[in-house]
Amino acid sequence: MADYIVKDIALAEFGRKELNIAETEMPGLMALRDEFGETKPLKGSRIVGSLHMTIQTAVLIETLVVLGADVRWASCNIFSTQDHAAAAIAQSGVPVFAIKGQSLEEHWDYLDRSFQFADGPNLILDDGGDATLYILLGARVENGEPELLDVPTSEEEIAVFAQIKKRMAETPGWFTQMRDQIVGVSEETTTGVHRLYDLVKKGQLPFPAINVNDSVTKSKFDNKYGCKESLVDGIRRATDTMMAGKVAVVCGYGDVGKGSAASLSGAGARVKVTEIDPICALQAAMDGFEVVRLEDVVSTADVFITTTGNKDIIRIEHMREMKDMAIVGNIGHFDNEIQVAALKNHKWTNIKDQVDMIEMPSGSRIILLSEGRLLNLGNATGHPSFVMSASFTNQVLAQMELWTNGKAYKNDVYILPKHLDEKVARLHLARIGVRLSELSKEQADYIGVTVEGPFKPEHYRY
Ligand code: NAI
Repeated sequence: MADYIVKDIALAEFGRKELNIAETEMPGLMALRDEFGETKPLKGSRIVGSLHMTIQTAVLIETLVVLGADVRWASCNIFSTQDHAAAAIAQSGVPVFAIKGQSLEEHWDYLDRSFQFADGPNLILDDGGDATLYILLGARVENGEPELLDVPTSEEEIAVFAQIKKRMAETPGWFTQMRDQIVGVSEETTTGVHRLYDLVKKGQLPFPAINVNDSVTKSKFDNKYGCKESLVDGIRRATDTMMAGKVAVVCGYGDVGKGSAASLSGAGARVKVTEIDPICALQAAMDGFEVVRLEDVVSTADVFITTTGNKDIIRIEHMREMKDMAIVGNIGHFDNEIQVAALKNHKWTNIKDQVDMIEMPSGSRIILLSEGRLLNLGNATGHPSFVMSASFTNQVLAQMELWTNGKAYKNDVYILPKHLDEKVARLHLARIGVRLSELSKEQADYIGVTVEGPFKPEHYRY
C-alpha cells in the first residue's frame, strides 16, 4: 500500500512545475543544498514534520532530504495544504499525509502516521507545537496521568484525545518510546514557541528546542512582510471585495499585526488597530493607525482580522453587533481568536470552500473566512516563497544543529546564534540585487564589532 495520503497523486506534475519555480525564489534553501549536499550532515536523522504542506514547504522537505534526512510529513492545519505540493512530495517518495479540507480526526491521524518510521523518528520540525504536544501529552497519560484525557473542552481536544487513546490501545508504551528517542524539536511560530517556554517553566520539556520564530530573519520577515502580502491575497480570493475605502480593524499589532495592517492599508483600506500592550499601541499610532477598542468600532467597520495568538478576541457579542456582510477572519495560528463555536447554532450558508455566510439572530450576516483558521493559508496560498526561504533556512540550520550537536544543549529553548541569523539574511541578498557596504577595520573597531560581523549586540531589537 502507498505510504502517503494525498488528495490526488495525478496533481504531482503540476506541483513539480510550481516547485521548480519556487526553488528560484528560495536562495537560502538552495545555498544550503550546495553547501551541505555532499557532506550530508542530516544523515541518520529521521524527521517528523508538522507544518503547512505548501509548495514552499515542499522545497524545505527536499532540502532536508538532500542533506541526508529521512522525512515524514503532515500539515499543521486542516485547510493549509496545497494538494499539488503534497502530491509532488508523495511522488518523490517522501511519505506525506495531508489534504486540504481534512477533518480534525484526520489531522491527528495523519500526524500519527507521520511518526511511523520503522525505527521511529529522532527529530521534530514543528509549526504551532501539535507534533510535540501529541507525543508529550500521550507520554504523560502513559506515565500515570490518565486523567488528562478525562474532560475534553473543545472539538480540537476531542479529536486529539481520541487519537491518543487509539494509539495507546494499538501500541502500548509508544508515546514514551517516542518521547525518549526524540533528540530535539525546532519550532516555527510564535504560538508554538509560547507552548515550548510554558513546558520549560513547568519542567516538562524532555529534549532541547530551537525557537526558529525568534530568529530575526524569521519573525521580522515572515510574520511581517509575509502577512503584508498574504493577508489581502486571502481576503480577495475569498470575497473579491473592494478593499479601498473599507474600514478594517486589525486586532493585535505584533509582527503579524504590523504586516496585516500594512497589507490592508496598502490595498487602500482605512485601518484601525486594537492592542493591549502600550508599546505596540504607540507603534500603531505612530505608524498612522487609529488605535481603538473593538467595541467602539464593531458596528461600523467592514473587515475584522485577528492577529494576536490570544483567545476570545472577537466574541459572539461582537459578531452580533457587526453590520450586514462584515468580513471576519483570523491570521493567528489557532482558530480560538474568534468564538466560532458560539456560532454553531446560527444559520450557516456555505459560499465555497473556506467561505461561509452566517446569519445572526438580528438577520444581519457576516462572512467568516476559513472557519476562523488562518486565512492566508486557508483562503490563499500563504506567504510567497522568498520570505519562506528565510524562515526555512533557519529551520534547516536548527535541525542540523540539533542533529549534529544536540548533546551540547540542555532541555531548554534556544535561539540560533546571531552569526547564523546574519548568514540567512546574506543568502537572500543577491536574488534581489542588494549590494552590502563593507566596514573598514577602523569603523568596525569604532562601533565595537568585527569586519565579518555579527554587526549588532544581542540586545539590539531591529
Ligand atoms: P506577537 O506576540 O508579536 O503579536 C501579538 C500581539 O497581539 C501582541 O502585540 C499582543 O500585545 C497583542 N494582543 C494580545 N492579546 C490581545 C488582545 N486581547 N487584544 C488586542 N491585542 C492583543 O505575535 P506574532 O508573531 O505577531 O504572531 C501572532 C500569531 O500569528 C501567532 O499565533 C503566530 O503563531 C501566528 N503567525 C501566523 C502566521 C501566518 O502566516 N498566518 C505567520 C506567523 C505567525
